[in-house]
Amino acid sequence: MNINTSGKNVVQPLAGKRGGRDHTLLSESSPFHVREAFKTIRTNLQYTLATTSSKSFVIASAMPNEGKSTSSANLAIVLAQTGAQVLLMDCDLRKPSVHRLFRLTTGKGVTSILCGIDTIEQALHENVVPNLDIITAGPLSPNPSELLGSSRMKDLLGIVEKAYDYVILDASPMNLVSDAVIVAKQTAGIVLIVRQEQSRHEQLQKCIKSCEFAGVNILGIIVNESRSSKSYHYGYVYEYSKATDRK
Ligand SMILES: Nc1ncnc2c1ncn2[C@@H]1O[C@H](COP(=O)(O)OP(=O)(O)O)[C@@H](O)[C@H]1O
Ligand SMILES: [Mg+2]
Repeated sequence: MNINTSGKNVVQPLAGKRGGRDHTLLSESSPFHVREAFKTIRTNLQYTLATTSSKSFVIASAMPNEGKSTSSANLAIVLAQTGAQVLLMDCDLRKPSVHRLFRLTTGKGVTSILCGIDTIEQALHENVVPNLDIITAGPLSPNPSELLGSSRMKDLLGIVEKAYDYVILDASPMNLVSDAVIVAKQTAGIVLIVRQEQSRHEQLQKCIKSCEFAGVNILGIIVNESRSSKSYHYGYVYEYSKATDRK
């Protein structure tokens, strides 16, 4: 596999909190390079999704802490900035974090919708950012894989896909549980996150094999790099490589 690593955007710093939201969320005060990097990812993704029948996709990676939730949230924000109607759904039902990133309650969410306790309307957080609605994970459930593979999940996706231009699903680590692949089979595919200096080549290979085995489309790969320096600065790199660039 060849992941093109030319043209990196490295920016710093990104410490501190703004407006009560997580500091890793994009805002007007985010460094220029980070905003530009996400715009590039957005454009590539828009082109890729233009050729798919579904506009919903899963953000996944091999292991925890590689940047799935952060990338899902920021992609949702940049897509919403185009005026498109975007829904972000937290489908990491084992270790949900979208509600924490946006400081939302999660008493109602994906699990309570799938169990028939709440309606989509009841669980929906509307216009969290202009044009961006969010459904958090909901209460922890004992059977996440079964819920995500259920016909109710299929129905839920069918409904939200009709209502939104883009539906982004944050997922659990692929090499630990099968949830991401189960959900991705019902969408346009998976965008894989790789964290530089953390993700391992063989782990990524395992992810790709799982997708191939399940017939899940890999829409692209985002390289998410975080480097701390001697001072308390962070380096952020977001880079996108289309699946077709892989050799
Ligand atoms: N590019 C980045 N630079 C600095 N910190 C990051 C970056 N991406 C993610 N993080 C941080 O790493 C941690 C894990 O990220 P998260 O998105 O929750 O990963 P995952 O969803 O894959 O488990 C969080 O504390 C997040 O703020
Ligand atoms: Mg996460």
